[in-house]
Amino acid sequence: MRDISNIGAAARACFAAFRDALDQRALQDPELESFVEAMGCEDLIRVQRGPFPQCPHHSMQKLDALLRSGSDDSLTRAVQNAAGHLDWSPLYDGVDLGGVSGSTGQRVEDMLAAQMVGSYGCFMGDRIAAGILVAPPGTHYPLHSHEAKEVYWCVAGRVDVAYGVDGQTRRLAAGDHAVTPPLCLHALHTQESPALVLYVWEGDIRAPTWWWVKEDSGQWSRTAWRRLPGEPWRIEHREQVGPNIPMGPPSSTHTYLKSPMQKERSSKLQQTNAQTSQSSREYGDKTPH
Ligand SMILES: [Fe+2]
Repeated sequence: MRDISNIGAAARACFAAFRDALDQRALQDPELESFVEAMGCEDLIRVQRGPFPQCPHHSMQKLDALLRSGSDDSLTRAVQNAAGHLDWSPLYDGVDLGGVSGSTGQRVEDMLAAQMVGSYGCFMGDRIAAGILVAPPGTHYPLHSHEAKEVYWCVAGRVDVAYGVDGQTRRLAAGDHAVTPPLCLHALHTQESPALVLYVWEGDIRAPTWWWVKEDSGQWSRTAWRRLPGEPWRIEHREQVGPNIPMGPPSSTHTYLKSPMQKERSSKLQQTNAQTSQSSREYGDKTPH
């Protein structure tokens, strides 16, 4: 059992370091300014719960090595300091994702998450949710969309962010970030390397998350899940995806890669993805109904 006072202090310090890093990066990427502003305005209310038992999930064994592999910068150190105090659990604990997960290779069951701020975080957030994800090698976090816009910030390892049903992919290494606009379809994948990723949502954080699957017929359907404070995830609605619902990446989707070498690598990767769009479609065909 851990001391809950440390949990609050660790979460607050990590959230502040994340905001500082976004503030600095916003000089190069103005898309981040609204996140920085909202994170600064957020009046954090401590949720009194815990102390939490250590998460027994086998992916926790990856966390230490991942943390040690991170860069020597203030944000990485804040994550390293906070990680041992946070309330880690499987990303969709106790949820049967049904057609989204299962036997399709869309592996989310090995992903871990710890929320610092948000509906079920150490601090209540109103329009901000922020936390940490751990994705072991070979993770496939399926296509989804939500009202809130989102930043993924890779702290350690490598993660591919895929946009749209055709899976246009950008690879993030440590220090890179991606901004996903509201309702933009996206997914996360890891290859041989695991990834430690900070995320922040800004906007309507209580709106449902839509999980997308491709039917055997080739039609796409989506299911709305919602998790309200103090409640488990629940299915709210399922529908066919009509022609009025965007399925591709909007033009404003972008990533920021820290180093020129990473930019070059990402550019090559995007060219490769364009040449191998057939394999992306095959991946989609494996999704269940
Ligand atoms: Fe997302």
